[in-house]
Amino acid sequence: MASLTIRKLDDTLKAYLRLRSAKNGRSVEEEVRVILRELADGRAEPAEAVAAVPAASSAPVPRAASAAGEPRITLIIGGGIAAYKALDLIRRLKERHIQVRCVLTSAARQFITPLAASALSHERVYTDLFDAESEFDAGHIRLARECDLIVVAPATADLMAKMAHGHADDLASAVLLAANRPILLAPAMNPLMWNNPATRRNVLQLRRDGIHTVGPNAGEMAEAGEAGVGRMAEPTEIAAAADHMLRPPQPRPLAGKRVLITAGPTHEAIDPVRYIANRSSGKQGFAIAVAARAAGADVVLVSGPVELHDPAGISVMRVESARDMLHRVEAALPVDVAIFAAAVADWRVVSEGTQKLKKTSAGMPPLQLVENPDILATISKLKDKRPPLVIGFAAETEHLIDNAKAKFARKGCDWIVANDVSPASGVMGGDRNTVHLLAREGKDVTVDSWPVMTKEEVAAALVSRIARTVGTAS
Ligand code: CTP
Repeated sequence: MASLTIRKLDDTLKAYLRLRSAKNGRSVEEEVRVILRELADGRAEPAEAVAAVPAASSAPVPRAASAAGEPRITLIIGGGIAAYKALDLIRRLKERHIQVRCVLTSAARQFITPLAASALSHERVYTDLFDAESEFDAGHIRLARECDLIVVAPATADLMAKMAHGHADDLASAVLLAANRPILLAPAMNPLMWNNPATRRNVLQLRRDGIHTVGPNAGEMAEAGEAGVGRMAEPTEIAAAADHMLRPPQPRPLAGKRVLITAGPTHEAIDPVRYIANRSSGKQGFAIAVAARAAGADVVLVSGPVELHDPAGISVMRVESARDMLHRVEAALPVDVAIFAAAVADWRVVSEGTQKLKKTSAGMPPLQLVENPDILATISKLKDKRPPLVIGFAAETEHLIDNAKAKFARKGCDWIVANDVSPASGVMGGDRNTVHLLAREGKDVTVDSWPVMTKEEVAAALVSRIARTVGTAS
């Protein structure tokens, strides 16, 4: 079997792969595997693949456009006593920020009204296949396609039999037959019906077709004195199963790892009202913290003064000066990975004025500067608590790669993320970044140049690389 070396691919292909893998939060190798898998499945183009995936695919469900960016479910309510629970299901789904559009079978209308479903879903409810208003633009096709998932609750024995045999003689069965989205059934029926060989055959067929089910549960039936398997799963269970299909849990390759990140500028006081600062926005460091958290890491973010909110689930320490930052960083050790994205001021004034400096006839006050501690170098050179992976940044306005390489010796870190911060690049304060990842490998330094990306994409690509090096995915 031939092997593929990504480094040897042509630059355009590499740039495409890096961008795509960064966007999807995967390593380049994983991305190549996904692309090959898609090709093998006959899904060369991911966008079109969405339409080609069989309804039963257990792949992450592609998103249908919705105004609020929330996923959308077409909820088919079948005719059974459990239909009343479908009303509660609408509420449970909406609590999870899922939009719901209901289809009621004629049997369902014996148990609940379209008005109730409409009031809870805040959407028009669909009932008839031969409804001129909804069918003039192929309404059943739209109901089947303009959603991310189709849920059938309660899924009656009759509805499942129709599905298993491909019937389409009412709106619900026509939607199910026309569906190219995943389908989740919540069966509900009398235990004798559930255990009937015909139902068993149909359920088996539907599962073979890749249709998902939740329940039925065991318990008492609506019919007096009857009990067994056949009760519809509770609305909370169905909502959780649907949510799981819509938002499958992401891999957490950095679970159990502690990651420290510095971000933003530092402010070095001159007097109580003035300070030395720089233009760093902190966006790149914050984006890395968010990406590391999403990968499951326990993240400590030590940030200089920035106008960014604390990201959820991250312990954020706000500091002013380089010396404050160093103290917080030292207190956060030990960590598995330390990433120094802060633009630390190199100098501070020797003695900070306790009062505001005044203009005098003697002219400008002399500002004597002294060098700040180098946080990255201090941590890289620690004997006992040195993190196993230390990553620095090199913000340069010229000779990017050479200057970045020279920093390895001075700083003692393992990787350097070098970025061009010349005014023309728009990086300082902007949303995009062009970076090169330099890694020390023995006496050599490898340089991996990434295409222009958003700071979130750079963060995802960096975290993915870190995960391959220190994470559970490595
Ligand atoms: N850094 C640090 N503490 C400092 C200065 C820099 O931790 N006092 C870290 C930065 O967070 C970054 C790396 O060192 O990860 C390089 O920062 P940079 O400003 O590019 O380099 P300097 O060391 O300041 O060198 P120069 O300004 O001469 O390029």
